[in-house]
Amino acid sequence: MTAMASSDRLILPLPGNDAFARQLAAAGKWEQGTLETRRFPDGESYVRIAADVADKSVVLVQTLAQPDPGFLSLVFAADAARDLGAREVTLVAPYLAYMRQDRRFHPGEAITSRSFARLVSSSFDRLVTVDPHLHRYPALSALYTVPADTLHAAPLLADWIAAEVESPLVIGPDEESEQWVAAIAQRIGAPHAVLRKIRHGDRNVEVAVSDLSAWHGRQPVLVDDIASSGRTLVEAARQLPQQGFVKPIVAVVHAIFAEDAYQQLTPLCSRIVSTDAVRHESNAIALAPLIALALAADKEGATNLVRHRRSPEPLDEVDRASIDSFPASDPPAWTSGHT
Ligand code: R5P
Repeated sequence: MTAMASSDRLILPLPGNDAFARQLAAAGKWEQGTLETRRFPDGESYVRIAADVADKSVVLVQTLAQPDPGFLSLVFAADAARDLGAREVTLVAPYLAYMRQDRRFHPGEAITSRSFARLVSSSFDRLVTVDPHLHRYPALSALYTVPADTLHAAPLLADWIAAEVESPLVIGPDEESEQWVAAIAQRIGAPHAVLRKIRHGDRNVEVAVSDLSAWHGRQPVLVDDIASSGRTLVEAARQLPQQGFVKPIVAVVHAIFAEDAYQQLTPLCSRIVSTDAVRHESNAIALAPLIALALAADKEGATNLVRHRRSPEPLDEVDRASIDSFPASDPPAWTSGHT
C-alpha cells in the first residue's frame, strides 16, 4: 500500500459543501481549493476551478441530497479538472442520490439509479460514499463502472449510542434492518429488536411493534439508514410509548427529512441525531475522518485506475489575454458569445 503525499491531493467543495470539505482536508492534512460557480442570466452554470490541479488527485465534494440543481456544475467541474491535468478525479458524495428507483415499478418508468450511475461513472475515476441505499443491487459495482468505495457509518452510530445513551435498546424499524441493527447492538453490548414495516406508498407506512416488554426500563434508540419522508420513523416512534417505553432517541445516517418530516418526528422523540452526510440541524456524528481514511488508503497502483488521463489543456485565448474569467453575458470580443 502506497500512501499518497498530502500535497498530491486537492479537496474542492461544490457550493454548500464547504464545512464538510474543510473537515475532510483537515483530517487528511490535504490542500483545499476553491471552486467558483454562478448562474448565467439564462440559467446556465458557470464553473471555474481557482486552484492548480495539474498532476493532482482532485477530490470534488458534493453530497447528493437534492441532486438535480447542482449536478451539472459537478460534472463541469470534474471535466475542467481533467482538462487542466488532474491525475485523477474522485467524487466524495457522503449521500448518494438516485438509489431508490432501482427497477421499473410501473410501465414506462425511468430506472434512474442506472442512468445516474452511468453519468457519474463517465465523469469520475472513483466514487466514495457512505451507506448507499442498496436494496435490489448487491453492491455499487452492479451499477457503477468506476471503483466505488462504500463506507459504513454503523460503527460511528454505535459509538455515539455507547457514549450518549444509558441502557439502550437498539431498534430497527423493519425486518430488512435486522443484520445492521444486530451489528450495532453487538458492538456496544446492548439488546436489539426489529419492527415490522409495510409501505403502502411514499408517505403511507404501517409499522407493527412486537412485544418488547422484556426490555422495559431501557431507552429505545431507533436507528435507520435514511429518514426521507420520515414516515417510517414517525410511525415507529409513535408506537413505543404505547408499549410503556419512554420517547425514543433516533439515530440516522442520512438526514434527508423531506418537507415537514423533521417537525413531525421531533415531538415524538427525546433526541434526533444524524451523521453529517446531509447537512441538517440534527447532525452530531462527523463522517470526514472515516472518508479521509478511505481516501488515504490508496490501493496499490491506484493510478492504474485512471481512465481519462489527459495532458493539461493548451493556453487559450482567455489565458493569453491574462483574464481569469469573464461574465458570459458580456463576453470578450474574440468570442462568438455565450448564446
Ligand atoms: C428502508 O428500506 C430504509 O431503511 C428506510 O427505512 C426508509 O427508506 C425510510 O424512508 P421514509 O423516511 O420515507 O419512511
